[in-house]
Amino acid sequence: MASESAMARSNTAPLPIDQTRAWKALAAHARSTRRRTLADLFAKDRRRAEKFTVEGAGLRMDYSKHHVDATTMRLLLDLAETAGLKARIGRMFRGEKLNSTEHRAVLHVALRAPRGTVIKVDGEDVVPHVHEVLDRMSAFSRRVRSGSWKGATGKRIKNVVNIGIGGSDLGPVMAYKALVHYSERSMNFRFVSNVDGTDFVEAVRDLDPEETLFIVSSKTFTTLETMTNARTARTWLLAGLTKACGRKGLPADATARHFVAVSTNAKEVEAFGIDVENMFGFWDWVGGRYSMDSAIGLSTMLAIGPERFAEMLRGFHAMDEHFRTTPLSRNLPVIMGLIGVWMNNFLGYPSLAVLPYDQYLSRFSAYLQQLEMESNGKHVTLGGSRVAWDTCPTIWGEPGTNGQHAFYQMIHQGTRIVPCDFITFCKPISGLPHHHDLLVANVIAQAEALAFGKSKAEVRAEGVARELVPHKEFDGNRPSTVILGERLTPFSLGTLVALYEHKVFTQGTVWQINSFDQWGVELGKVLAKRIIPQLESRRAVSDHDSSTNSLINYYRAHRR
Ligand code: F6P
Repeated sequence: MASESAMARSNTAPLPIDQTRAWKALAAHARSTRRRTLADLFAKDRRRAEKFTVEGAGLRMDYSKHHVDATTMRLLLDLAETAGLKARIGRMFRGEKLNSTEHRAVLHVALRAPRGTVIKVDGEDVVPHVHEVLDRMSAFSRRVRSGSWKGATGKRIKNVVNIGIGGSDLGPVMAYKALVHYSERSMNFRFVSNVDGTDFVEAVRDLDPEETLFIVSSKTFTTLETMTNARTARTWLLAGLTKACGRKGLPADATARHFVAVSTNAKEVEAFGIDVENMFGFWDWVGGRYSMDSAIGLSTMLAIGPERFAEMLRGFHAMDEHFRTTPLSRNLPVIMGLIGVWMNNFLGYPSLAVLPYDQYLSRFSAYLQQLEMESNGKHVTLGGSRVAWDTCPTIWGEPGTNGQHAFYQMIHQGTRIVPCDFITFCKPISGLPHHHDLLVANVIAQAEALAFGKSKAEVRAEGVARELVPHKEFDGNRPSTVILGERLTPFSLGTLVALYEHKVFTQGTVWQINSFDQWGVELGKVLAKRIIPQLESRRAVSDHDSSTNSLINYYRAHRR
């Protein structure tokens, strides 16, 4: 099959991936190996763990507890080749406009490119612009962290509230929680995303407006939730400052001292009343869900400081380089992506649980839900036809060991197979090494239990009453990946996030979809805009279907 670029040049659509020889070979291979268990695979090869473990950018990924052998991996790599993956990676790094429905380059990798790297979009090198913004963010962060940036009444800023949603929230929240150990503990960081007023009210209830800085983070600066919260924040701030200033009155720069913006839309930022001097920009070639290392990470930088932020960018870049230069057969994101395709499309497992054994990563799965599902939850190919294969699985998860006491019952004995990504680190941050040994023992044990289970004979041998034997049996043969890092640091967080970003790219390439648009979020937004005035109207509503009319009218009758 010709690559996507060759297709584009010759103006022919690529062969649908499920019609290719590589896909058909995998389908046949899946049928012929269906009965083979993980126990069989391990029994046959004492060096299996070594053969199916890859390392890169400081991460070690053991995928030996998957239903794969050398043939499976060869066929998966053929599929990647058929999909033109290698060439497409090059095209992304060169700044080609892979986001075809929005005619945009896909260049989150430029956000962490070291000074002096040249990456051009429409003939212009974007890397100097990236570093100019990083420099401004650093200068601003230093002023706020040192206390030299003062609020309107002369008090130092102690509280930072990020207002944003989706990619303008999930990355900042996840990163703050992940790196709180490295953060400035004399400051408070809060995150407001939901248009539900309680989110804002709870975030600011114990904050002093005189000591509070709001970061309005929105790529478009038009998002309903964010702009509603930003306006409410401005009202709250001005009311608080007016009270504090008393007869002296509010200084003219009151809003400017307490509001900064992160956006690509200078016009709307200005219209909101934020001085564009206090705006940190990014570009249309950064997707919202790929933006936590752009200016959208300003709250992260304020929390951990510019040096640690730069360390995080170096981690991202290390994984970028691994992805760009390592042969596909030893390339972590590629292997992770291909194993995902194998499970999703050939073994038929519709979800993936991401289970970090690290409490600091408590929002990592939520972050990945947007990264993976907004990117690859698509049913149309790049060429505009309906896909005939499944795309993104459902991504979910919670940190271990908590998940073990909640939903692991289903993972071990439920009727559906749930592949798991286990993530953990060798060295603890807590200073409580015994806790850490218990944590890591649990993650290793879970992967072992899932793979090998416990047979009826083993249960019987424990003297279990006959009628309980079927309840205590574990089928095993359930796949998982174990990802190990040395320690959770800004660097390793960067490598981990970039690993998943590039995994998403790999899968989107195989599935022949655009991983960088998100048209599927539009319809609900448009309909909500139509319904808002109807909820407030005095007239009964009748222009929707009967269920929607009835919901609107019931709410109208009970809303106050
Ligand atoms: O809901 C869709 C979406 O556009 C996401 O892709 C994005 O991360 C989020 O909304 C927030 O958008 P913005 O940063 O423009 O406010």
